[in-house]
Amino acid sequence: MKLLPYFIIASAIGALAVSIDDCPGYTASNVVESDGKLTADLTLAGTACDIYGTDLTELKLLVEYQTNARLHVKIYDAGLQVYQIQESVLPRPSSQGVLASDAAIQFKLTEKPFSFSISRTGSDEILFDTSGTKLVFESQYVYLRTQLPKDPNLYGLGEHSDSFRLATDNYKRTLWNAESPFIPRKSNLYGSHPNYLEHRGGSGSHGVALLNANGMDININKTSSGDQYLEYNILGGVLDFYFLAGPSPTDVSKQYAEVVGLPAMVAYWTFGFQQCKYGWPDIETEEQVVANYSAADIPLEVLWADIDYMDRRRIFTVDPQKYPLDKMRKLVGDMHQRGQKSRCIH
Ligand SMILES: *[C@@H]1O[C@H](CO)[C@@H](O)[C@H](O)[C@H]1NC(C)=O
Ligand SMILES: *[C@@H]1O[C@H](CO)[C@@H](O)[C@H](O)[C@H]1NC(C)=O
Repeated sequence: MKLLPYFIIASAIGALAVSIDDCPGYTASNVVESDGKLTADLTLAGTACDIYGTDLTELKLLVEYQTNARLHVKIYDAGLQVYQIQESVLPRPSSQGVLASDAAIQFKLTEKPFSFSISRTGSDEILFDTSGTKLVFESQYVYLRTQLPKDPNLYGLGEHSDSFRLATDNYKRTLWNAESPFIPRKSNLYGSHPNYLEHRGGSGSHGVALLNANGMDININKTSSGDQYLEYNILGGVLDFYFLAGPSPTDVSKQYAEVVGLPAMVAYWTFGFQQCKYGWPDIETEEQVVANYSAADIPLEVLWADIDYMDRRRIFTVDPQKYPLDKMRKLVGDMHQRGQKSRCIH
């Protein structure tokens, strides 16, 4: 008898549970094609499923053949209320407006239910295909799935401590910046880079970069009937994709760098010896470390103070007992006078 209320509650939750399969998807209309560009309106195709927040009823689709090797596909809210990464934070290259017929990859639209695919020009090999599942675009959830060939060679989606070639079965890649002490396997780490490279052997490699700053789970998995897929489960933002044609892995890397920019040139002194340790008890220990490098005739370019120096781990503070400000200033001043550098970890 004790089980009965429990059973009733469990069934009630089961009956109420809404899944993404209940979401209506979108329908494309007002498709306008011009040289190197396509725009369309996307309208919610039925009753909102409102799984996490509310479904957005009106979206916009923008497709640009930016270069022969770079295709930009953006799905965003018609009201322009959803966060987009500002150009001031990450400047993007402008479109060179190439003709689709000159491009190495092609965009294909299915209006109802809305889906799209990306394929290689000539061979028609499909690289990305969202048909079969419906786009979900809510105030707190964005979902898109692409079909993939079985056991694809996928790399990227950093920063993580998983295998270099990503697992293809029952695999969840969480992009949520975190320090994972001692870097255990299968952890999310400090940075989020929602871009992957897929290597297809014969036809080469291509890249898929998603410009979205929200936390997300990217699941790489197979359906119960064995069909391979990769899906984005995102906490918000817009779907801002760059499809990169490769065809070599090096080409994909170069094309990706054209989107997000080249790494900054590092200063010459950063190639010198840098010492840091978490757990130094006080400023006197740090003074000794610096002095002991000199005594041992080892050139020390930089000393890093880890978070031990802070007052109760508060940013922009120093511990008044263990790392008093006057002693910190003296050590830093002495090092700078000798041309050494000092840094504090935040
Ligand atoms: C993978 O798919 C199976 C069902 O086919 C499901 O039980 C499992 O939760 C999925 N894993 C991920 C990470 O999506
Ligand atoms: C510096 O060297 C001295 C002498 O060898 C040693 O006693 C001391 O522990 C060293 N200090 C640190 C922080 O390693």
